[in-house]
This record gives sequence, C-alpha cells and structure tokens, in this order.
Amino acid sequence: MQSRNSIIEEPEAPWGKDVRLLVVDDEEFIRSIVRERMELEGVSVGEAQNGHQALAMLRDGDYSVLLTDIRMPEMDGVALLREASRLFPGTARIVMTANADLETAVAALKNGAYDYILKPFSFDILFVTIQNAIRKQALERQLQDYQVNLESRVKEQTDLINSLYVRSIQSLIKALEAKDLYTRGHSQRVTLYSMAISTEMGLSPAHIEDLRRASILHDLGKIGVTETILNKPGKLTREEFYEVEKHPEVGTQILSPIPYFQNILPAILHHHERFDGCGYPGKIAGTEIPLESRIMAVADTYDAMTSTRAYRPALPEEVATAEILRCSGTQFDPEIVSVFLFAKDKIEENG
Ligand SMILES: [Fe+2]
Repeated sequence: MQSRNSIIEEPEAPWGKDVRLLVVDDEEFIRSIVRERMELEGVSVGEAQNGHQALAMLRDGDYSVLLTDIRMPEMDGVALLREASRLFPGTARIVMTANADLETAVAALKNGAYDYILKPFSFDILFVTIQNAIRKQALERQLQDYQVNLESRVKEQTDLINSLYVRSIQSLIKALEAKDLYTRGHSQRVTLYSMAISTEMGLSPAHIEDLRRASILHDLGKIGVTETILNKPGKLTREEFYEVEKHPEVGTQILSPIPYFQNILPAILHHHERFDGCGYPGKIAGTEIPLESRIMAVADTYDAMTSTRAYRPALPEEVATAEILRCSGTQFDPEIVSVFLFAKDKIEENG
C-alpha cells in the first residue's frame, strides 16, 4: 500500500479542467485563503458558511470536490457529509479538522469523507489531498461502471448460451417433424391453444412463458420412436403403443441436462396423464398433475383430433369439441375444459 508520505512526494498532477471546489467553513479567513490559492491554480471555487448553505450550492452547481470544516453552526460537517454522500455521490468529499478533532475526523470518514486534512495545512498538502480525492472518486465511478457492465455482459452471455440451446432443440424438432409427417405444425397449434387458455386463466407472464416452451417441446421425445410406428396407417399393436408411450420420458431425458429447460421438465413428463389417474407415465391424478400438463392435455388432444393423422382423417371441430366435453372430469380437468371452450371461440373469432 502507498503511504501518505509517498503520495505527497508524487509530482503534482495537473488539475482537470472541469474541477470545481466548494469550500465550507464558518471562518471567512479559511474560505478566502483556500479560494484565492485554488483560483490561482485555475480551479473554480464556491464558498458556504455551513452545511445547509453547502447542500443548496451542491444542488445548484456541479461541484467535483467538497472541502468542509467539521465544527460549524446550524448543520455541522458530519451531517453535511452524510447528506452529500447520499444526494451527490459524484462529488469527492474531504474534511478539514484541527488536531484535537481526530475522533470527529474518524466519524467523518465513516460518514462518507474520502480523506481528511489537519489544520493548519500547507497548500502542497491540500493540493495532493484534493487530487487524491478526485482520483479516488473517479476510480469508484469506474468500478461502478464496471460492475454495471459486468452484469449486462453476464446477462448477454447467458442469453447467448440459452439461444444456442434453443437453436439446437429447434433442430431436433425439425428432425422430428421430418420423421413424423402428421405432427408437422402440431406443436405450434398446441402452443397457440395453451397460450389462449393460460392467458384466459390469468397466469403470470413467467408461468405463461414456461408453458409456451413446454408446449413447443412436449412431443420432442417422439424423436426416439421409429418412423414406421409414427407413420403407421393402421392401429398400433400393444408393443408399438408401448414404444410411443415412452415419449414423455424420452423428451424429459433429452432436455434434463440443460439448465434452461429445468422448469418445464415436469410439464413435459406428465402431458399424457389423465385427470382420473389412468394416464401415463406416472398415473397421477387431479391437481397432482402439473397445471401446465393439464392445459397441454386439452390443447394436444383437440389438435390431434382436428388434424389428419396416419390412421384417420381430421375430425370436424364440433365432433372434437363434443369429445373434449365428454371427457371432461375423466381425461381432462373440467375447469380447464370450460376455459378452453371459451378461449377456442375467441381464437376462431380472431381467425
Ligand atoms: Fe405427446
């Protein structure tokens, strides 16, 4: 660490051209000698007799340095420092004190002074003290800027990493859609219905965002099912159906190493559970099933029924809607079914 003496011995740094000093002292003599000497150095100087006057001047003028006495009537130097460091953190603060006042000087440092100077002082020491306080203030500002920049850099990098994850998962979805001709566009339509339901339910933006991701990715695990099964025109055998039933778990396994998708794993894992507990893979029932999964179950089934599949043509909307209503309370959460019917009408009205 540099000692106080070694700082004093440093060659004098030129004053910055915008340095403005406010000297605060109830003794007119001190104020005027500081003003005269600093003005000779090309520094612009303001004078105040007490803390109140100083605060008013700091408010009106752009002072880079506050040089204040401690013992003053009305508002003393310690109270002034406390207010100035709160209201004008960009102003470097220095305390002038007599030897007998050392304890008060320590209190001043605790209340935001950068440095103190003992009265009587030589101007050489005053110059160096002011220069050091200006440097310290500039360093503090740089440090704050650095911290702000660092936070935004970390956020940028996190966003970049997340977008790379999303891109690689999007390629997987493309690969799945290329394999399974009939599910092309299915994820987008399920997302559209899920968003309409969750918005109607008044879910939080964060919750809706999780549901959006889960809806896009809910069938990702079908990448692990062979094309022959996915595109089979007839009924699936028990073994083939068993293969298809693995897709919620396979999808969860694909996404589980990626921190960005942690929140949505339960929603994907349980999107084929039934409200009566007869679904898969967990056979869980009612509100044990994550809300996102209960929403996706309705959206997914409705879209599957109204799209052409390998084994049957698309069903008319009225038939699909009647089937959703028939399964309310058994396959689906009845509350979500009623929200869905309302939200679906809205989507159709808006085209
Ligand atoms: Fe599925």
